[in-house]
Amino acid sequence: MASPLRFDGRVVLVTGAGGGLGRAYALAFAERGASVVVNDLGGDFRGLGKGSSAADKVVEEIRSKGGKAVANYDSVEAGEKVVKTALDTFGRIDVVVNNAGILRDCSFARISDEDWDIIHRVHMRGSFQVTRAAWPHMKKQKFGRIIMTSSASGIYGNFGQANYSAAKLGLLGLSNTIALEGKESNIHCNTIAPTAGSRMTQTVLSEDLMEALKPEYVAPLVLWLCHESCEENGGLFEVGGGWIGKLRWERTLGAIVRQKNQPMTPEAVKANWKKICDFESASKPQRIQESVGSIIEAVNKIDSGGGVSTNDTSHAASGGVSTFTRVIGYKFPPFSSTYTELEAIMYALGVGASVKEPKDMKFIYEGSSDFCCLPTFGVIIAQKPVVGGGLGDISELPVSLEKVLHGEHYLELYKPLPRSGTLKCEAVVADVLDKGSGLVLLVDIYSYFEKELVCYNQFSVFFVDGGGFGGKRTSGKVKEAVAVPDRPPDAVLTDTTSLNQAALYRLSGDWNPLHIDPNFSGLAGFDRPILHGLCTFGFSARHVLQQFADNDVSRFKAIKVRFSKPVFPGQTLKTEMWKEGNRIHFQTKVHETGDIVISQAYVDLVPASDISAKKPSEGEKLQSTLVFEEIGRRLGDIGRDVAKKVGAIFEWHITKGGDVAAKWTIDLKSGSGKVYQGPAEGSADTTFILSDEDFMEVVLGKLDPQKAFFSGRLKVRGNILLTQKLQMILKDYAKL
Ligand code: NAI
Repeated sequence: MASPLRFDGRVVLVTGAGGGLGRAYALAFAERGASVVVNDLGGDFRGLGKGSSAADKVVEEIRSKGGKAVANYDSVEAGEKVVKTALDTFGRIDVVVNNAGILRDCSFARISDEDWDIIHRVHMRGSFQVTRAAWPHMKKQKFGRIIMTSSASGIYGNFGQANYSAAKLGLLGLSNTIALEGKESNIHCNTIAPTAGSRMTQTVLSEDLMEALKPEYVAPLVLWLCHESCEENGGLFEVGGGWIGKLRWERTLGAIVRQKNQPMTPEAVKANWKKICDFESASKPQRIQESVGSIIEAVNKIDSGGGVSTNDTSHAASGGVSTFTRVIGYKFPPFSSTYTELEAIMYALGVGASVKEPKDMKFIYEGSSDFCCLPTFGVIIAQKPVVGGGLGDISELPVSLEKVLHGEHYLELYKPLPRSGTLKCEAVVADVLDKGSGLVLLVDIYSYFEKELVCYNQFSVFFVDGGGFGGKRTSGKVKEAVAVPDRPPDAVLTDTTSLNQAALYRLSGDWNPLHIDPNFSGLAGFDRPILHGLCTFGFSARHVLQQFADNDVSRFKAIKVRFSKPVFPGQTLKTEMWKEGNRIHFQTKVHETGDIVISQAYVDLVPASDISAKKPSEGEKLQSTLVFEEIGRRLGDIGRDVAKKVGAIFEWHITKGGDVAAKWTIDLKSGSGKVYQGPAEGSADTTFILSDEDFMEVVLGKLDPQKAFFSGRLKVRGNILLTQKLQMILKDYAKL
């Protein structure tokens, strides 16, 4: 047999415990070891008069059985005084059962102000006053159990009880919010709607029923809900005669009744009325987020203008295998992503690249000779259909913003990303999986630079509650996550994210307010905004690249991650890595909590030997090569003169497709001057970085170097004044 539920050491306050239900609670708690405060004003059932005998009698009854109890005769409206009795007598307060109540029944039109007010004062204000007085003590001790007493009359309505119904359902609202606010402090609040024979009901219940509906048949529910082992919080229960049932809200799937840029009309409401009221496949929202979420979802659908007509909204709950199979192969509208060095740098800073790390400079300073995009910037290029509201266009999907999670991600690069440019992207729904608890949508996105496939992304988008439609669980199209090896990691790198990390990362295009707006993150159930999963992903990939590929982006081939838990800005990310050939397995933890936030992940690297074999010989196929060679030839005779005039060493980094394709040095400092391929043998006074094409335009006089500089096409490091002399050289010696 289960061990009895005891309340030894607990202090329980029951209001209105001088008779009826309250008395039954007080006796039951005392019998199980609690110290009980028996509160009762001692008036009649209409709230008239007062006296001490009702409370005293119950206290005596408890004491005669060897229990501990003390009486309090204050009205619940004086909540502080009632709670003070518990603190003064027993030193603490653990449980509050708000039970005191009166009736002032009367048909609605005849309710006087007094009858309205007194009902609200005793039930609503009384429960509020007593609970508020107990609250700080419960918070401090990190334990509390509270009961609100509602009524079927409030839930369903009852003739002649408008004042009472209003107050009784008001208590449910109070309880719902207290349950949320108290949760973290282990304070639970539940509501009961009892039916019992008492002086309150003796005029409406027959004698038989009075007997069958004894208060003792309600008390055990109250005791269980108030026990320390009970996890129930925010529940509503009907109880009476030995039966208990739980209530919850149900909501129809509803209908969208307006279209973008169209007025909303009562006629459209009428036309959709059947659907608005159709409880077939209704949802059972439990949290305000679900309520707000569906409204935001509807607004997004309307705004995107896609997939929704005034007569058509589809949801997962109503979708079946065939509905979702239709989604497979869905092509999102093609789109292009244009970016400059600015976006690439912003992204790199967003995922923690820093001036603290000299080898990061190439990701955050466009003037670096080897400037390049982080490989994971490939996600940013492709993310539009998933983070930009594109999913809302697929009307078959159960899109509800707060219920869509980025479950896993795969990214493969076929060559390093250009440092700037426009990539054309095509996105398609590769498959739809039924994971039971949710639906997984595989979105494949291919990105092309000048017709060449540069990168491939696979987003696994998880729709919470969208599963169970009878679809397949796996697919050959999934890029599978892989468990990390069962041994200590070969390397660990850590990085502390800044409090502004999400605020910075979102500038790369994921504008979800969940990551910046405390109100929004609160609605999603987080006490503060969370970091983007893809931001953590960027940190981790950077760690792998730094640790195992010396930050050489051409070594990056692919990455797969599973997002397991949220990260809060300011937390420290710890990437644990295992090297197995060219695959680097990794998982990422939050240092402060030990939580694994990215699991079963890996980065595949291109073998270092392949890179050196593939690298084109410097200067190959570049037009600028001819120019430099020509300058070299012409300098032969007059080098000494020029070197005297100029007295400086210049270095050129010529780029092709965003990468440095050749380095040239014109040494006009030493001896008779010389031109050679490669970096300066001594240190260069000035370094110029520009593309092969722009170099040619400058040389041919089609592009003014100054304009090129100010527009960012030509970058100069070192002594910028020497550029004047450079112009002279190009003008006088390089004409072709
Ligand atoms: P009851 O009339 O036997 O008990 C209520 C007690 O509250 C009385 O002892 C009364 O003196 C006390 N009280 C009234 N105003 C007070 C105040 N301002 N301060 C302190 N004590 C005060 O009635 P019963 O049936 O035991 O009701 C208990 C609770 O259950 C009430 O809140 C009632 O509204 C609720 N309820 C009862 C139902 C039933 O079938 N008995 C149905 C639905 C709700």
